[in-house]
Amino acid sequence: MSFYITTPIYYVNDVPHLGHAYTTVVADALMRFHRARGEDAYFLTGTDEHGEKIEQAATARGKQPIELADEVVERFRETWVNLDIANDDFIRTTEDRHKRVVADMWKRLSDAGDIYLGSHEGHYCVRCEGFYPENKLLDGRLCPDHKTEVEWRSRPSYMFRMSKYQKPLLDYFEANPDFVQPDAYRKEILSFINEGLRDLSVSRNTFKWGVPVPGDDDHVIYVWIDALTNYISALGDIGSDKYNEYWPAVHLIGKDILRFHAVYWPCMLLSAGLPLPRTILAHGWWSVRGEKISKSMPATRVDPNLLAADIGADAVRYHLLREIPLGNDGDFTYEGLIGRYNSDLANDLGNLLNRTLTMTGKFCGGTVPEARPEVASGEVHANLARVATEAAAEAAKQFELYQPSRALEAIWQLVREANKYVDACQPWKLAKDPDKRAELEHCTRSFLEAAYWAACMAAPVMPRKALEIAHKLGVEAESLPWPSGAFNTLLPTGSAVDRGDPLFPRIDADRAAALLDKWIPDDAKKAEAAPAAEANDDGGPKISFDDFMKLDLRVAEVTAAEPVPKTKKLLQLQVDVGGQTRQVVAGIAEAYPAGDLVGRKVIFVANLEPATIRGIRSEGMILAAGDKKILGLSAVDRDVPTGTRIR
Ligand code: MSP
Repeated sequence: MSFYITTPIYYVNDVPHLGHAYTTVVADALMRFHRARGEDAYFLTGTDEHGEKIEQAATARGKQPIELADEVVERFRETWVNLDIANDDFIRTTEDRHKRVVADMWKRLSDAGDIYLGSHEGHYCVRCEGFYPENKLLDGRLCPDHKTEVEWRSRPSYMFRMSKYQKPLLDYFEANPDFVQPDAYRKEILSFINEGLRDLSVSRNTFKWGVPVPGDDDHVIYVWIDALTNYISALGDIGSDKYNEYWPAVHLIGKDILRFHAVYWPCMLLSAGLPLPRTILAHGWWSVRGEKISKSMPATRVDPNLLAADIGADAVRYHLLREIPLGNDGDFTYEGLIGRYNSDLANDLGNLLNRTLTMTGKFCGGTVPEARPEVASGEVHANLARVATEAAAEAAKQFELYQPSRALEAIWQLVREANKYVDACQPWKLAKDPDKRAELEHCTRSFLEAAYWAACMAAPVMPRKALEIAHKLGVEAESLPWPSGAFNTLLPTGSAVDRGDPLFPRIDADRAAALLDKWIPDDAKKAEAAPAAEANDDGGPKISFDDFMKLDLRVAEVTAAEPVPKTKKLLQLQVDVGGQTRQVVAGIAEAYPAGDLVGRKVIFVANLEPATIRGIRSEGMILAAGDKKILGLSAVDRDVPTGTRIR
């Protein structure tokens, strides 16, 4: 079976930023997952180079549109290399292979009797390249998206009989309930269609930068008809072998361009007599430090190339995919990126690997030992095997449902369980007892195997680091398969492991400060520093805004609580932080009996350096009121999901 996934083609009037990177990384990870499962996966991205917007941007820079496109397209290509994007093709709408299919598509719509010459007038936004009805304008004159003045335009235009497809499209939605995902977006589009589809103006005669209308050189084809056709033109002519193999596609898009993909494009395809896309998958929008990404706000212009150069593409990819469930909006902060890097990558995964490889060197001569069936049925061992197979099933299910953040949660359940497994097996004790040799080897083997399973499952998201892990575990492979089969049967026995350098060196406070200094543009730093310096006039110590932003505060729910033996004040708590379980030791037992805490939502410091208190590992802190004596627990005044960031 084939799996064809596309990103939107990006306009060349802007250079790649975090938002573009997000879409492309999500599509890349989904493609890699399907390929790892043995499917014939194909991944397309590219650039949208025609239209008035591009022509105007070029003119403003004193360039021809194609010169601008030629320059900016390189920025996209290099960004995708830097982020380890493995696209199979890159389409530019100025290529002949594309323009030919656009003309063909036009002829198909025309042959179906769906194109006629009419006239179009209305309130037009140049930046949207679209008309707005009066009631959608802000103050009766501003584009609702761009907040810029619209123009009244009236001109002859070819029209596409979109109204004719309202009913067929609704029928299609009915028959294919998964056509638009997630469901909230499907509902939004359904209500738009139900309001009534009007015929669409599909040509422009006020500028030339586009594909000419066949038979009428005075008009160019509307840029969205041109752009949407890329998903087919990149496969070759309609009916070509590649087209037959891969079409229809899964279109991953931002929510901003849902209507074009879930209404205009399907209507065009219905008219052309071609199959509709397999799925329209819409994701939410990233803001940066609470602000919408915009050209006029340098602080929001996060350069994914810079991040990848400093902490590695895999860490950036991991953060983007792990941070928000696909479909939701999310807010990006550099501190959040570093916090997650340290906790999930340096701490959880890096730790797992370091411990595994050290143990193998110390106890098993540096080679992968065999699993021991006589030991495997013991509870701790069987539990790890079960967690691994469940994680593989759950992560696969979530990738299939287009939910990479949830797939990563499932994978990290295994990573954390494997770390706990070593604490439970205590190999350093087993090593002292010659009778426990089989158990020691089984434990080491299982630990290595768990690291390998985690690497195989994380590979769609972190392709480079996953391969490095596999190489350290003695597997010489070019790509990793999705784990299948029984636990402890995947890693080749007897191969030599290689500890080497840590995979994810921890970012300490000094390095974090240096990175923030480098990443945050100077003007943004000034803007942030000003209010912080004026605040706090009560004589207490002042911290900078940057220092405050280093705190990773989250909503967490207490899921288990028990007193720490032989202490009056301490409780050992398990808290859920957005699907991750953290263990903390809290000095609140005198104010809160253990039984009162389960189910409470509290404010949690998620990036506190872990500590061991009374022999118990504590990874974070819950905030409480009171100084020496605890007077109350922190809480959020509404029921917000665990893991939500607090700022
Ligand atoms: N050229 C059109 C798409 C044509 S597809 C046939 C276009 N291009 S764009 O350069 O503006 O890129 C839009 C896509 O970039 C969005 O749909 C989204 O996938 C991504 N993003 C741009 N800004 C974004 C955020 N702030 N957050 C997340 N993704 C965003 O529209």
